[in-house]
Parts: sequence; structure tokens; C-alpha cells
Amino acid sequence: SSRLICFWVVFFVVPRSFRLLEELEEGQKGGGDGTVSWGLADDDDMTLTHWNGMIIGPAKTVYDGRIYSLKIDCGTRYPEHPPHVRFVNKINLTGVNSSNGVVDIKSVTALSRWKNSYNIRMVLQELRQHMMMKENNRLSQPPEGQVYSN
Ligand SMILES: *[C@@H]1O[C@H](CO)[C@@H](O)[C@H](O)[C@H]1NC(C)=O
Ligand SMILES: *[C@@H]1O[C@H](CO)[C@@H](O)[C@H](O)[C@H]1NC(C)=O
Repeated sequence: SSRLICFWVVFFVVPRSFRLLEELEEGQKGGGDGTVSWGLADDDDMTLTHWNGMIIGPAKTVYDGRIYSLKIDCGTRYPEHPPHVRFVNKINLTGVNSSNGVVDIKSVTALSRWKNSYNIRMVLQELRQHMMMKENNRLSQPPEGQVYSN
């Protein structure tokens, strides 16, 4: 019945723009712990689709002292569907495609087990955690400052 559908919409479908505006505000306030940040790539993007992310490489790892830029796309079905994430700066990290920087959804739990309560901050923070893992924290890295060509 339409009442049931109405109930479902109100309680289970998180309105996309409402959520993204909330994330924008948190990002502008410097949300998180200062090791990651995020914001709209273009302030005039009314569709709230294209975002920039930033991760500060964790200390005592090969990523230390580097700042990583990322491109995050929140499609029309966000937050029911996870964002598409790719590194701008070249990085050697498991789960990141070495030819274009695209983050493999399967390699990041925040993406592979995505829930509509997750957000951009959580994805960035998990990628940073990923850099600290034993399998990653010693990988040889491309020279600093290189970016993927796409
Ligand atoms: C990396 O991305 C390219 C271009 O999309 C693709 O052809 C290739 O299979 C990917 N590599 C891996 C390891 O997924
Ligand atoms: C990543 O690191 C491993 C181990 O240090 C190395 O063998 C591999 O060539 C590196 N890959 C890239 C794309 O730099």
C-alpha cells in the first residue's frame, strides 16, 4: 500500500542531499581528527557529486610526511551505494590500482560492507588505517609529488 511505501521512504531512505550537506558541514568544521579532510571539489556543484579528500600519511610508515589527495564521487544513489574513490597522488598500497589510483571496493571494509550510515570521513580514515597495516607500512613508494595521469 502507499502508506507502507511512505513509511519505508521516511524511515529507511536517507535523502541524498540532506546527508551530503551534513557531510559538507562537518568537513568545513574540520571534522575528524585532523588527519583526514574532505570538501566539495567545486563550491558551485549543486549536485554534491564531486568531492576532494585528503589524507596525511601516518607517522612511522613509508607514507609519513606525504599528503595524499583523493577524488571521491558520490553518485545519484549515495548513500545507499558507496562512493567511488581514487587517489590523485601516486601510492603503493594494497587495494589501490597502480595504473590509475582507483580504490578497489573489495579491499576496504568501509566500502565493501557499505551501509547508508557510513560517510566520506569513515572511508578516508579506513584508508589511513590501511596505510598503517603491517602488509603496507613498508612498501616501496613512487617518488613524492607524482600523480596518476587520468
Ligand atoms: C587497474 O585499472 C585498469 C583500468 O581500469 C584495469 O584495466 C586493470 O585491470 C586494473 N588492475 C587491477 C589489478 O585491478
Ligand atoms: C610496491 O611495493 C612492493 C614491495 O616494496 C614492490 O615490489 C612493488 O614494485 C611496488 N609497486 C609499485 C607500483 O610501486
